[in-house]
Amino acid sequence: MKDRKKEFKHLVTSLDEVPQKILEEQEQKVLASPFRQQIHIESKMGQLNDPNGFSFFNGWFHLFHQSFPLKYTQKPNYFEQGWHHYKSKNLVDWIDLGQAISNDTYFDKYGAYSGSALPINNQLFIIYSGNSWMNTETDNWRRLPTQMGAWMDKNDQVRKITTPLIKGPLDKYTGHFRDPKIFKKGNTYYVIVGAQRKNLTGTAVLFKSERLMTWDLVGEIKTQFNKNFGYMWECPDYFDFKNKGILIFCPQGLKTKFNIFQNMNQTCYCVGDELNLSNGKFNGTIVKELDQGFDFYAPQTMLTPDGRRLLIAWMSIMNGNDPTKKFGYTGCLTFPREITVIGNSIYQQPVHEIENLYSSHLQGKQEINCEKILIGKGRNARDIKLNIKIQHNGIFIFDLFSDPQNRKHLRIILNAAKNRFIVNRAQSGINFEDEFGVERSCEFNPEKTVKLRIIQDISSAEIFLENGEKVFSLRVFPDQKQNYIFVNSLNAKTVIKYEINELRIMKVEGKKNV
Ligand code: FRU
Repeated sequence: MKDRKKEFKHLVTSLDEVPQKILEEQEQKVLASPFRQQIHIESKMGQLNDPNGFSFFNGWFHLFHQSFPLKYTQKPNYFEQGWHHYKSKNLVDWIDLGQAISNDTYFDKYGAYSGSALPINNQLFIIYSGNSWMNTETDNWRRLPTQMGAWMDKNDQVRKITTPLIKGPLDKYTGHFRDPKIFKKGNTYYVIVGAQRKNLTGTAVLFKSERLMTWDLVGEIKTQFNKNFGYMWECPDYFDFKNKGILIFCPQGLKTKFNIFQNMNQTCYCVGDELNLSNGKFNGTIVKELDQGFDFYAPQTMLTPDGRRLLIAWMSIMNGNDPTKKFGYTGCLTFPREITVIGNSIYQQPVHEIENLYSSHLQGKQEINCEKILIGKGRNARDIKLNIKIQHNGIFIFDLFSDPQNRKHLRIILNAAKNRFIVNRAQSGINFEDEFGVERSCEFNPEKTVKLRIIQDISSAEIFLENGEKVFSLRVFPDQKQNYIFVNSLNAKTVIKYEINELRIMKVEGKKNV
Protein backbone atom coordinates (compact mmCIF):
# COMPACT_ATOMS: atom_id res chain seq x y z
CA MET A 1 0.00 0.00 0.00
CA LYS A 2 1.18 3.46 -0.81
CA ASP A 3 1.71 5.71 2.15
CA ARG A 4 -0.40 8.58 0.83
CA LYS A 5 0.19 10.81 3.79
CA LYS A 6 3.88 10.58 3.07
CA GLU A 7 3.39 10.96 -0.69
CA PHE A 8 1.60 14.27 -0.26
CA LYS A 9 3.43 15.57 2.76
CA HIS A 10 5.32 18.18 0.76
CA LEU A 11 2.56 19.08 -1.65
CA VAL A 12 3.14 22.34 -3.52
CA THR A 13 1.00 23.99 -6.17
CA SER A 14 3.79 25.70 -8.07
CA LEU A 15 7.51 25.38 -8.53
CA ASP A 16 7.87 28.85 -7.04
CA GLU A 17 7.30 27.21 -3.68
CA VAL A 18 10.38 25.04 -4.08
CA PRO A 19 13.85 26.34 -3.15
CA GLN A 20 15.77 27.38 -6.27
CA LYS A 21 18.72 25.27 -5.15
CA ILE A 22 16.66 22.08 -5.37
CA LEU A 23 15.44 22.90 -8.86
CA GLU A 24 18.98 23.64 -10.01
CA GLU A 25 20.25 20.36 -8.57
CA GLN A 26 17.49 18.51 -10.44
CA GLU A 27 18.38 20.29 -13.68
CA GLN A 28 22.05 19.44 -13.33
CA LYS A 29 21.21 15.79 -12.81
CA VAL A 30 19.13 15.69 -15.98
CA LEU A 31 21.87 17.38 -18.02
CA ALA A 32 24.29 14.59 -17.09
CA SER A 33 22.12 11.98 -18.84
CA PRO A 34 23.59 10.36 -21.97
CA PHE A 35 20.07 9.33 -22.99
CA ARG A 36 18.51 12.69 -23.83
CA GLN A 37 16.40 12.42 -26.94
CA GLN A 38 16.94 14.45 -30.08
CA ILE A 39 13.49 14.54 -31.77
CA HIS A 40 11.12 13.45 -29.01
CA ILE A 41 9.55 15.57 -26.30
CA GLU A 42 10.70 14.21 -22.98
CA SER A 43 10.57 15.04 -19.34
CA LYS A 44 12.62 18.08 -18.35
CA MET A 45 12.76 16.78 -14.79
CA GLY A 46 10.70 14.30 -12.83
CA GLN A 47 8.12 12.23 -14.63
CA LEU A 48 6.38 12.85 -17.93
CA ASN A 49 3.41 10.68 -18.74
CA ASP A 50 0.26 10.92 -20.86
CA PRO A 51 -0.06 13.44 -23.68
CA ASN A 52 -3.00 15.76 -22.97
CA GLY A 53 -4.97 18.45 -24.79
CA PHE A 54 -3.48 17.65 -28.22
CA SER A 55 -5.18 20.18 -30.49
CA PHE A 56 -4.82 22.92 -33.11
CA PHE A 57 -5.74 26.39 -31.93
CA ASN A 58 -4.95 29.92 -33.03
CA GLY A 59 -2.56 28.75 -35.76
CA TRP A 60 -0.57 26.42 -33.49
CA PHE A 61 -0.48 22.77 -32.57
CA HIS A 62 -0.84 22.58 -28.80
CA LEU A 63 0.43 19.63 -26.89
CA PHE A 64 0.37 19.22 -23.14
CA HIS A 65 1.54 16.29 -21.09
CA GLN A 66 1.20 14.98 -17.59
CA SER A 67 4.09 16.28 -15.59
CA PHE A 68 5.36 15.48 -12.10
CA PRO A 69 8.46 17.67 -12.14
CA LEU A 70 9.40 17.06 -8.52
CA LYS A 71 8.81 13.33 -8.46
CA TYR A 72 12.43 12.45 -7.83
CA THR A 73 13.33 15.20 -5.38
CA GLN A 74 14.56 13.83 -2.09
CA LYS A 75 14.59 15.20 1.39
CA PRO A 76 11.97 16.41 1.01
CA ASN A 77 10.14 14.70 -1.81
CA TYR A 78 7.87 17.45 -3.14
CA PHE A 79 4.62 16.72 -4.93
CA GLU A 80 3.18 18.75 -7.78
CA GLN A 81 1.28 17.24 -10.69
CA GLY A 82 -0.29 18.96 -13.64
CA TRP A 83 -0.06 19.73 -17.35
CA HIS A 84 3.10 20.95 -19.06
CA HIS A 85 2.51 22.90 -22.27
CA TYR A 86 4.28 22.99 -25.67
CA LYS A 87 3.16 24.53 -28.93
CA SER A 88 4.47 24.15 -32.45
CA LYS A 89 3.88 25.30 -36.01
CA ASN A 90 5.33 22.19 -37.63
CA LEU A 91 5.04 19.35 -35.07
CA VAL A 92 8.81 18.97 -34.88
CA ASP A 93 10.12 22.23 -33.37
CA TRP A 94 8.43 23.41 -30.20
CA ILE A 95 7.98 26.35 -27.90
CA ASP A 96 8.05 25.35 -24.28
CA LEU A 97 5.42 27.22 -22.29
CA GLY A 98 6.03 25.50 -18.94
CA GLN A 99 3.52 24.16 -16.47
CA ALA A 100 0.04 25.25 -17.64
CA ILE A 101 -2.30 23.55 -15.19
CA SER A 102 -1.36 22.86 -11.63
CA ASN A 103 -2.95 21.08 -8.68
CA ASP A 104 -4.10 24.27 -7.01
CA THR A 105 -7.83 23.82 -6.33
CA TYR A 106 -9.85 21.68 -3.97
CA PHE A 107 -10.86 19.27 -6.77
CA ASP A 108 -7.42 18.76 -8.30
CA LYS A 109 -5.36 19.17 -5.16
CA TYR A 110 -3.72 15.75 -5.58
CA GLY A 111 -3.14 15.99 -9.30
CA ALA A 112 -4.53 17.67 -12.41
CA TYR A 113 -4.87 14.42 -14.29
CA SER A 114 -5.29 13.68 -18.00
CA GLY A 115 -7.77 15.28 -20.35
CA SER A 116 -8.26 16.82 -23.75
CA ALA A 117 -8.98 20.09 -25.54
CA LEU A 118 -11.11 21.50 -28.35
CA PRO A 119 -11.09 24.99 -29.89
CA ILE A 120 -14.43 26.69 -29.20
CA ASN A 121 -15.26 30.31 -30.03
CA ASN A 122 -11.75 31.76 -30.13
CA GLN A 123 -10.64 29.90 -27.05
CA LEU A 124 -9.33 26.46 -26.31
CA PHE A 125 -11.70 24.54 -24.07
CA ILE A 126 -9.92 22.09 -21.79
CA ILE A 127 -11.51 19.25 -19.85
CA TYR A 128 -9.42 17.21 -17.42
CA SER A 129 -9.70 15.03 -14.34
CA GLY A 130 -9.18 16.52 -10.96
CA ASN A 131 -7.81 14.00 -8.53
CA SER A 132 -8.71 14.54 -4.95
CA TRP A 133 -9.03 12.28 -1.95
CA MET A 134 -11.62 12.00 0.77
CA ASN A 135 -11.10 10.73 4.31
CA THR A 136 -7.50 11.91 4.35
CA GLU A 137 -7.56 12.17 8.12
CA THR A 138 -8.04 8.44 8.46
CA ASP A 139 -6.38 5.59 6.59
CA ASN A 140 -9.49 5.12 4.49
CA TRP A 141 -8.40 7.37 1.62
CA ARG A 142 -10.91 7.40 -1.24
CA ARG A 143 -10.59 9.00 -4.61
CA LEU A 144 -12.89 11.89 -5.40
CA PRO A 145 -12.81 12.06 -9.19
CA THR A 146 -14.08 15.23 -10.80
CA GLN A 147 -14.06 16.30 -14.44
CA MET A 148 -12.89 19.89 -14.47
CA GLY A 149 -12.78 22.57 -17.13
CA ALA A 150 -10.52 25.43 -18.18
CA TRP A 151 -10.28 27.98 -20.99
CA MET A 152 -7.09 28.96 -22.71
CA ASP A 153 -7.03 32.28 -24.53
CA LYS A 154 -5.01 33.36 -27.57
CA ASN A 155 -2.16 34.44 -25.30
CA ASP A 156 -1.91 30.88 -24.03
CA GLN A 157 -3.23 31.87 -20.62
CA VAL A 158 -5.21 29.11 -18.94
CA ARG A 159 -8.09 30.03 -16.63
CA LYS A 160 -9.75 27.26 -14.66
CA ILE A 161 -13.51 26.98 -14.39
CA THR A 162 -14.05 26.77 -10.66
CA THR A 163 -17.16 24.60 -10.56
CA PRO A 164 -16.75 20.96 -11.59
CA LEU A 165 -18.23 19.95 -14.94
CA ILE A 166 -18.95 16.36 -13.89
CA LYS A 167 -18.91 15.44 -10.24
CA GLY A 168 -17.85 11.99 -9.21
CA PRO A 169 -17.86 9.33 -8.08
CA LEU A 170 -20.96 8.21 -9.96
CA ASP A 171 -23.31 5.62 -8.50
CA LYS A 172 -22.25 2.65 -10.57
CA TYR A 173 -18.53 3.36 -10.60
CA THR A 174 -15.59 3.47 -8.24
CA GLY A 175 -13.26 6.43 -7.76
CA HIS A 176 -11.38 5.37 -10.90
CA PHE A 177 -13.20 7.70 -13.23
CA ARG A 178 -10.99 9.89 -15.38
CA ASP A 179 -9.36 11.03 -18.62
CA PRO A 180 -12.20 12.79 -20.48
CA LYS A 181 -11.76 13.02 -24.25
CA ILE A 182 -13.94 15.66 -25.87
CA PHE A 183 -15.35 15.70 -29.40
CA LYS A 184 -18.16 17.48 -31.19
CA LYS A 185 -20.81 16.15 -33.51
CA GLY A 186 -23.39 18.51 -34.98
CA ASN A 187 -24.07 21.07 -32.29
CA THR A 188 -23.44 18.74 -29.42
CA TYR A 189 -20.30 18.13 -27.42
CA TYR A 190 -19.45 14.69 -26.10
CA VAL A 191 -16.88 13.37 -23.68
CA ILE A 192 -15.87 9.79 -23.19
CA VAL A 193 -14.45 9.03 -19.75
CA GLY A 194 -12.48 5.99 -18.53
CA ALA A 195 -14.13 4.15 -15.65
CA GLN A 196 -14.16 1.21 -13.31
CA ARG A 197 -17.48 -0.38 -12.45
CA LYS A 198 -18.25 -1.30 -8.88
CA ASN A 199 -17.67 -4.96 -9.82
CA LEU A 200 -14.08 -3.93 -10.67
CA THR A 201 -14.30 -4.23 -14.44
CA GLY A 202 -13.27 -1.49 -16.84
CA THR A 203 -15.40 0.51 -19.22
CA ALA A 204 -15.86 3.94 -20.80
CA VAL A 205 -18.77 6.26 -20.18
CA LEU A 206 -20.29 8.81 -22.55
CA PHE A 207 -21.64 12.25 -21.60
CA LYS A 208 -23.14 14.98 -23.74
CA SER A 209 -23.58 18.69 -23.43
CA GLU A 210 -24.91 21.63 -25.42
CA ARG A 211 -23.21 24.42 -23.50
CA LEU A 212 -20.25 22.76 -21.81
CA MET A 213 -20.99 23.79 -18.23
CA THR A 214 -23.42 20.95 -17.55
CA TRP A 215 -23.10 17.42 -18.86
CA ASP A 216 -25.71 14.66 -19.15
CA LEU A 217 -24.88 11.01 -18.80
CA VAL A 218 -25.64 9.07 -22.01
CA GLY A 219 -24.37 5.78 -20.61
CA GLU A 220 -21.61 3.27 -21.02
CA ILE A 221 -20.07 2.51 -24.36
CA LYS A 222 -21.77 -0.80 -25.02
CA THR A 223 -19.58 -3.33 -26.74
CA GLN A 224 -19.48 -7.10 -26.75
CA PHE A 225 -16.08 -7.14 -25.13
CA ASN A 226 -16.24 -4.71 -22.23
CA LYS A 227 -18.21 -6.91 -19.87
CA ASN A 228 -14.99 -8.25 -18.49
CA PHE A 229 -12.01 -6.77 -20.27
CA GLY A 230 -9.56 -5.50 -17.69
CA TYR A 231 -10.23 -3.90 -14.32
CA MET A 232 -10.03 -0.27 -15.46
CA TRP A 233 -9.96 1.57 -18.79
CA GLU A 234 -7.76 4.61 -18.85
CA CYS A 235 -7.43 7.30 -21.51
CA PRO A 236 -10.28 6.36 -23.87
CA ASP A 237 -10.54 8.14 -27.22
CA TYR A 238 -13.22 8.01 -29.87
CA PHE A 239 -13.35 9.44 -33.40
CA ASP A 240 -15.07 8.85 -36.71
CA PHE A 241 -12.99 7.97 -39.72
CA LYS A 242 -14.73 7.80 -43.09
CA ASN A 243 -18.05 6.40 -41.81
CA LYS A 244 -16.37 4.14 -39.29
CA GLY A 245 -16.06 4.59 -35.57
CA ILE A 246 -12.76 4.00 -33.80
CA LEU A 247 -12.51 3.39 -30.09
CA ILE A 248 -9.09 3.53 -28.43
CA PHE A 249 -8.68 2.67 -24.76
CA CYS A 250 -6.11 1.46 -22.24
CA PRO A 251 -7.40 -1.55 -20.33
CA GLN A 252 -5.46 -2.46 -17.23
CA GLY A 253 -5.12 -6.02 -16.01
CA LEU A 254 -5.44 -8.09 -19.20
CA LYS A 255 -3.74 -11.48 -19.20
CA THR A 256 -0.86 -12.05 -21.61
CA LYS A 257 -1.82 -14.27 -24.55
CA PHE A 258 1.28 -15.64 -26.29
CA ASN A 259 2.68 -12.56 -28.02
CA ILE A 260 -0.05 -10.06 -27.22
CA PHE A 261 -0.82 -8.05 -24.09
CA GLN A 262 2.71 -8.52 -22.83
CA ASN A 263 3.13 -5.13 -21.22
CA MET A 264 2.08 -4.14 -17.75
CA ASN A 265 -0.96 -2.29 -19.13
CA GLN A 266 -2.28 -2.31 -22.68
CA THR A 267 -3.43 0.02 -25.40
CA CYS A 268 -6.20 -1.40 -27.56
CA TYR A 269 -8.45 -0.24 -30.35
CA CYS A 270 -11.53 -1.44 -32.09
CA VAL A 271 -13.02 -0.41 -35.43
CA GLY A 272 -16.80 -0.53 -35.82
CA ASP A 273 -19.68 1.45 -37.23
CA GLU A 274 -20.00 4.98 -35.93
CA LEU A 275 -20.80 5.08 -32.23
CA ASN A 276 -24.49 5.50 -31.50
CA LEU A 277 -24.37 8.77 -29.58
CA SER A 278 -27.85 8.49 -28.16
CA ASN A 279 -27.36 5.16 -26.41
CA GLY A 280 -23.61 4.42 -26.50
CA LYS A 281 -23.91 1.27 -28.66
CA PHE A 282 -20.73 0.38 -30.49
CA ASN A 283 -20.74 -2.70 -32.67
CA GLY A 284 -16.99 -3.23 -33.18
CA THR A 285 -15.87 -6.72 -32.21
CA ILE A 286 -12.20 -7.24 -33.09
CA VAL A 287 -9.97 -5.72 -30.44
CA LYS A 288 -6.35 -5.19 -31.41
CA GLU A 289 -3.25 -3.83 -29.77
CA LEU A 290 -2.45 -0.38 -31.09
CA ASP A 291 1.28 -0.83 -30.69
CA GLN A 292 3.05 -4.07 -29.96
CA GLY A 293 6.22 -2.55 -28.60
CA PHE A 294 7.49 -2.61 -25.04
CA ASP A 295 6.76 1.02 -24.32
CA PHE A 296 3.49 2.58 -25.40
CA TYR A 297 0.52 3.89 -23.44
CA ALA A 298 -2.17 6.55 -23.10
CA PRO A 299 -2.37 7.75 -26.73
CA GLN A 300 -4.45 10.72 -27.73
CA THR A 301 -5.63 11.78 -31.17
CA MET A 302 -6.61 15.09 -32.79
CA LEU A 303 -7.84 16.32 -36.15
CA THR A 304 -5.65 18.79 -38.06
CA PRO A 305 -7.09 21.65 -40.14
CA ASP A 306 -6.11 19.70 -43.28
CA GLY A 307 -8.15 16.71 -42.13
CA ARG A 308 -5.47 14.37 -40.85
CA ARG A 309 -6.02 12.31 -37.72
CA LEU A 310 -2.85 12.51 -35.60
CA LEU A 311 -1.87 10.41 -32.64
CA ILE A 312 0.75 10.78 -29.95
CA ALA A 313 1.39 8.57 -26.94
CA TRP A 314 3.52 8.12 -23.87
CA MET A 315 6.46 5.91 -24.86
CA SER A 316 6.52 3.95 -21.65
CA ILE A 317 4.65 1.54 -19.50
CA MET A 318 3.73 2.47 -16.01
CA ASN A 319 6.46 0.91 -13.99
CA GLY A 320 8.70 3.93 -14.11
CA ASN A 321 11.91 1.91 -13.82
CA ASP A 322 13.67 3.59 -16.72
CA PRO A 323 17.44 3.85 -16.31
CA THR A 324 17.02 7.63 -16.65
CA LYS A 325 15.56 7.69 -13.16
CA LYS A 326 19.02 8.02 -11.72
CA PHE A 327 19.32 11.26 -13.69
CA GLY A 328 16.15 12.53 -12.06
CA TYR A 329 13.68 12.10 -14.92
CA THR A 330 11.57 9.51 -16.75
CA GLY A 331 9.29 9.47 -19.76
CA CYS A 332 9.04 10.72 -23.30
CA LEU A 333 6.32 10.95 -25.93
CA THR A 334 6.26 9.11 -29.24
CA PHE A 335 6.93 11.07 -32.38
CA PRO A 336 3.56 12.39 -33.66
CA ARG A 337 1.90 9.93 -36.06
CA GLU A 338 -0.72 10.19 -38.74
CA ILE A 339 -3.25 7.40 -38.66
CA THR A 340 -5.56 5.99 -41.27
CA VAL A 341 -8.05 3.17 -41.05
CA ILE A 342 -8.32 0.39 -43.60
CA GLY A 343 -10.73 -2.48 -42.92
CA ASN A 344 -10.46 -3.31 -39.24
CA SER A 345 -6.94 -1.96 -38.86
CA ILE A 346 -5.33 1.30 -37.91
CA TYR A 347 -2.23 2.19 -39.89
CA GLN A 348 0.30 4.55 -38.33
CA GLN A 349 3.08 6.57 -39.92
CA PRO A 350 5.30 9.34 -38.57
CA VAL A 351 3.84 12.71 -39.63
CA HIS A 352 5.34 13.93 -42.91
CA GLU A 353 6.62 17.01 -41.09
CA ILE A 354 9.52 14.79 -40.01
CA GLU A 355 11.12 15.86 -43.29
CA ASN A 356 11.84 19.22 -41.64
CA LEU A 357 14.37 17.34 -39.52
CA TYR A 358 16.21 15.64 -42.38
CA SER A 359 19.88 16.61 -42.50
CA SER A 360 22.01 14.18 -44.50
CA HIS A 361 20.69 11.52 -46.78
CA LEU A 362 21.94 8.09 -47.73
CA GLN A 363 20.38 5.58 -50.05
CA GLY A 364 21.32 2.39 -51.83
CA LYS A 365 20.64 -1.19 -52.68
CA GLN A 366 22.57 -4.19 -51.35
CA GLU A 367 22.57 -7.92 -51.55
CA ILE A 368 23.21 -9.31 -48.10
CA ASN A 369 24.61 -12.77 -47.51
CA CYS A 370 26.80 -12.23 -44.45
CA GLU A 371 27.10 -9.86 -41.54
CA LYS A 372 28.18 -6.38 -42.55
CA ILE A 373 28.11 -2.81 -41.41
CA LEU A 374 25.47 -0.68 -43.05
CA ILE A 375 26.31 2.45 -41.06
CA GLY A 376 29.39 2.97 -38.94
CA LYS A 377 29.14 6.56 -37.87
CA GLY A 378 26.82 9.36 -36.90
CA ARG A 379 24.32 9.92 -34.16
CA ASN A 380 21.45 7.57 -33.45
CA ALA A 381 18.77 9.87 -34.82
CA ARG A 382 17.55 8.61 -38.14
CA ASP A 383 14.51 7.99 -40.27
CA ILE A 384 15.25 4.61 -41.84
CA LYS A 385 13.16 3.25 -44.70
CA LEU A 386 13.77 -0.27 -45.94
CA ASN A 387 12.36 -2.48 -48.67
CA ILE A 388 13.36 -6.03 -47.90
CA LYS A 389 13.16 -9.02 -50.25
CA ILE A 390 14.02 -12.21 -48.44
CA GLN A 391 14.66 -15.39 -50.37
CA HIS A 392 12.93 -18.61 -49.53
CA ASN A 393 13.48 -19.55 -45.87
CA GLY A 394 15.98 -16.75 -45.37
CA ILE A 395 16.42 -14.93 -42.09
CA PHE A 396 17.18 -11.25 -42.40
CA ILE A 397 18.68 -9.48 -39.38
CA PHE A 398 18.77 -5.74 -38.90
CA ASP A 399 20.78 -4.61 -35.89
CA LEU A 400 20.40 -1.07 -34.65
CA PHE A 401 22.27 0.51 -31.77
CA SER A 402 25.15 -1.91 -32.45
CA ASP A 403 28.59 -1.57 -30.95
CA PRO A 404 31.55 -1.94 -33.36
CA GLN A 405 31.73 -5.70 -32.71
CA ASN A 406 27.96 -6.08 -32.90
CA ARG A 407 27.77 -7.79 -29.54
CA LYS A 408 25.21 -5.30 -28.36
CA HIS A 409 22.28 -4.23 -30.47
CA LEU A 410 18.54 -3.85 -30.78
CA ARG A 411 17.88 -6.83 -33.01
CA ILE A 412 15.12 -6.97 -35.60
CA ILE A 413 14.66 -10.38 -37.22
CA LEU A 414 12.55 -11.23 -40.24
CA ASN A 415 12.33 -14.99 -40.24
CA ALA A 416 10.88 -16.09 -43.58
CA ALA A 417 10.92 -19.77 -42.60
CA LYS A 418 8.59 -19.06 -39.70
CA ASN A 419 6.79 -15.98 -41.04
CA ARG A 420 7.81 -14.15 -37.88
CA PHE A 421 8.88 -10.60 -37.39
CA ILE A 422 10.77 -10.24 -34.11
CA VAL A 423 12.10 -7.31 -32.09
CA ASN A 424 14.54 -8.33 -29.40
CA ARG A 425 16.07 -5.85 -26.97
CA ALA A 426 17.87 -8.33 -24.70
CA GLN A 427 21.32 -7.06 -25.70
CA SER A 428 20.41 -3.47 -26.44
CA GLY A 429 22.19 -1.82 -23.52
CA ILE A 430 21.03 -1.35 -19.97
CA ASN A 431 18.32 -3.91 -19.38
CA PHE A 432 15.09 -2.74 -17.84
CA GLU A 433 11.53 -4.06 -17.38
CA ASP A 434 12.81 -7.51 -18.40
CA GLU A 435 10.08 -9.08 -16.31
CA PHE A 436 7.73 -8.20 -19.18
CA GLY A 437 9.90 -10.11 -21.65
CA VAL A 438 12.73 -8.99 -23.93
CA GLU A 439 11.09 -9.91 -27.20
CA ARG A 440 7.99 -8.82 -29.12
CA SER A 441 6.84 -10.39 -32.37
CA CYS A 442 4.10 -10.70 -34.93
CA GLU A 443 3.39 -12.56 -38.14
CA PHE A 444 4.49 -11.15 -41.46
CA ASN A 445 4.28 -12.19 -45.08
CA PRO A 446 7.77 -12.86 -46.49
CA GLU A 447 6.49 -13.58 -49.99
CA LYS A 448 6.15 -9.86 -50.67
CA THR A 449 8.78 -7.17 -50.48
CA VAL A 450 8.54 -6.14 -46.84
CA LYS A 451 8.34 -2.46 -45.98
CA LEU A 452 9.95 -1.39 -42.76
CA ARG A 453 10.40 2.08 -41.37
CA ILE A 454 12.20 2.96 -38.18
CA ILE A 455 12.37 6.25 -36.37
CA GLN A 456 15.49 5.94 -34.31
CA ASP A 457 16.41 8.39 -31.59
CA ILE A 458 19.14 8.43 -28.95
CA SER A 459 17.18 6.16 -26.59
CA SER A 460 14.20 4.89 -28.55
CA ALA A 461 13.01 3.20 -31.71
CA GLU A 462 9.59 3.28 -33.31
CA ILE A 463 9.33 0.45 -35.80
CA PHE A 464 6.60 0.58 -38.46
CA LEU A 465 5.98 -2.66 -40.35
CA GLU A 466 3.95 -2.85 -43.56
CA ASN A 467 2.98 0.82 -43.79
CA GLY A 468 2.40 0.96 -40.08
CA GLU A 469 -0.22 -1.76 -39.75
CA LYS A 470 1.99 -3.16 -37.01
CA VAL A 471 4.05 -0.83 -34.86
CA PHE A 472 6.58 -1.53 -32.13
CA SER A 473 7.63 1.40 -29.94
CA LEU A 474 10.32 1.03 -27.36
CA ARG A 475 13.03 2.63 -25.31
CA VAL A 476 16.64 1.44 -25.33
CA PHE A 477 19.52 2.61 -23.20
CA PRO A 478 22.69 1.93 -25.19
CA ASP A 479 26.21 3.02 -24.36
CA GLN A 480 28.02 5.60 -26.41
CA LYS A 481 29.76 3.13 -28.71
CA GLN A 482 26.46 1.70 -29.89
CA ASN A 483 25.88 3.83 -32.95
CA TYR A 484 26.43 1.31 -35.75
CA ILE A 485 23.90 -0.47 -37.89
CA PHE A 486 24.63 -4.04 -39.00
CA VAL A 487 22.76 -6.25 -41.44
CA ASN A 488 22.94 -9.99 -41.97
CA SER A 489 21.14 -12.69 -43.86
CA LEU A 490 21.17 -16.36 -42.88
CA ASN A 491 20.18 -19.41 -44.97
CA ALA A 492 19.63 -17.37 -48.11
CA LYS A 493 20.48 -13.95 -49.41
CA THR A 494 18.31 -10.88 -48.88
CA VAL A 495 18.14 -7.84 -51.10
CA ILE A 496 17.50 -4.53 -49.39
CA LYS A 497 16.82 -1.08 -50.69
CA TYR A 498 17.36 1.59 -48.08
CA GLU A 499 16.87 5.26 -47.65
CA ILE A 500 18.26 6.74 -44.46
CA ASN A 501 17.86 10.34 -43.37
CA GLU A 502 19.80 11.59 -40.40
CA LEU A 503 17.72 13.85 -38.20
CA ARG A 504 18.78 17.17 -36.75
CA ILE A 505 17.93 18.07 -33.15
CA MET A 506 14.47 19.55 -32.75
CA LYS A 507 14.38 23.16 -31.65
CA VAL A 508 12.80 23.87 -28.30
CA GLU A 509 12.49 27.54 -27.47
CA GLY A 510 11.22 29.13 -24.35
CA LYS A 511 11.46 28.37 -20.72
CA LYS A 512 14.70 26.98 -19.40
CA ASN A 513 13.27 25.28 -16.38
CA VAL A 514 10.05 23.47 -15.76
C1 FRU B 1 -2.54 7.07 -17.32
C2 FRU B 1 -2.96 7.81 -16.08
C3 FRU B 1 -4.32 8.44 -16.28
C4 FRU B 1 -4.29 9.60 -15.32
C5 FRU B 1 -2.85 10.02 -15.42
C6 FRU B 1 -2.30 10.63 -14.16
O1 FRU B 1 -1.18 6.95 -17.45
O2 FRU B 1 -2.98 6.95 -14.96
O3 FRU B 1 -5.40 7.58 -16.07
O4 FRU B 1 -5.17 10.62 -15.67
O5 FRU B 1 -2.12 8.89 -15.77
O6 FRU B 1 -1.01 11.11 -14.38
